[in-house]
Amino acid sequence: MGDLKHKDESWDFRSADTKEYTHCFHTYPAMMIPQIARRLLNEYGCEGEWLLDPYCGTGTSLVEASLFGMHSVGCDINPLVRLIATAKVTPISLKALDSEVNRLNDAFFDIEFGTTTIPDVPIPDVPNLDYWFSDEVKKFLAYLLYQINKVEDEPIRNFMKVAYSETVREVSYTRTSTFKLHRMPSEKLENFNPDVFGIYHKKINRNRQGLIAYLEKRKDVEATICHANTVAGELPIPRPLGGYNLVITSPPYGDSQTTVAYGQFSRLSAEWIGLNNARKVDRIAMGGQPSKSIFEDSPVTTAIEKIQTIDEKRSRDVSAFYNDLGHSIDTVAKMLSPRSTICYVVGNRRVKDVLLPTDEFVVHAFGKHGFSHKETIVRNIPNKRMPKKNSPSNVAGQTSSTMNEENIVICQRTD
Ligand SMILES: C[S@@+](CC[C@H](N)C(=O)[O-])C[C@H]1O[C@@H](n2cnc3c(N)ncnc32)[C@H](O)[C@@H]1O
Repeated sequence: MGDLKHKDESWDFRSADTKEYTHCFHTYPAMMIPQIARRLLNEYGCEGEWLLDPYCGTGTSLVEASLFGMHSVGCDINPLVRLIATAKVTPISLKALDSEVNRLNDAFFDIEFGTTTIPDVPIPDVPNLDYWFSDEVKKFLAYLLYQINKVEDEPIRNFMKVAYSETVREVSYTRTSTFKLHRMPSEKLENFNPDVFGIYHKKINRNRQGLIAYLEKRKDVEATICHANTVAGELPIPRPLGGYNLVITSPPYGDSQTTVAYGQFSRLSAEWIGLNNARKVDRIAMGGQPSKSIFEDSPVTTAIEKIQTIDEKRSRDVSAFYNDLGHSIDTVAKMLSPRSTICYVVGNRRVKDVLLPTDEFVVHAFGKHGFSHKETIVRNIPNKRMPKKNSPSNVAGQTSSTMNEENIVICQRTD
């Protein structure tokens, strides 16, 4: 890669506000910061053209595309983030929203003041609910959901469900220090008595402020979120004439089953809301199914062979991920215009202490589709929400900081 790869601290955005506009709506593992998408759009975007984010998560680049003036399409296999991304890009009437919020406040007024009890409504049939929620919290959550589901306008209902989803996580017995589902220690459980409606109310107000800022700045463009597994050949998504012009995305790291567990993070909320396949996300995610063979002829092959000498099974897991990422890039490349630019934000993780050059893999994979490497910007990650330390060798007590940097890989297709 030579000179094309360079460190540039102006991409760190150390003190930037990453929660402006609708970016404040909901946390998620390994979110992209909006400033990266914004700067890339300013450099490579063109108003009225089309942006694709094949692994859109909560829709960071789609929101930025709408603010910039590009049409956008995002894909993800996780139903919860499709809901969040949809709510973040969809304009809604503030007047209609306020009227629904007031109705909800009225429904909870007497309950909050203790003058009446929570009406009994059916509690969703979710496995292990008692393990994650107290009886009181379950009743509140069920009643809140019952009230939200009364909202007829779908975009407003989605907006309210997003605040609900974050509330579910916060009022559950889950530890907040990890994205994985771990129950808090028993001594904490006894005194854990969250104010469900108060938490929800705060989130609604915060998100409403973000929405106002977004509505003031967004351009009149389309933004669509699709249920699509980008590994699986054809994408069931809109096909703009001439193809997509720009990709700004951050693919998964390849450790969805272990460290950055998108599915585990989303599961409780998704199950309360009634979203399908909530439990399957980490298995369907890239690298979720072990591979039978070692990935050959690529910039990651040497590293995978090294891992194989230490741990055969891990080498197959890693192979499976790059296999999927390669297929996914083939699918994405088919959708892109002859003069398109791709920007992939990737971390080079370590497995068994062996560094995997995912940035080089991306350059190589797009190279097969007529893309030339323009540059790879290496940035420090001061504020991305993900585990900074992991145990790459999986030996207890042995940790190393693997995720303190990430690479913004930029390639361009020329005729
Ligand atoms: C790093 S996250 C994206 C975060 C996003 N940029 C944001 O700011 O919220 C990667 C996403 O890829 C999704 N994903 C994993 N495998 C996928 C696949 N085969 N097709 C589409 N999306 C996939 C995960 O569900 C996850 O939401």
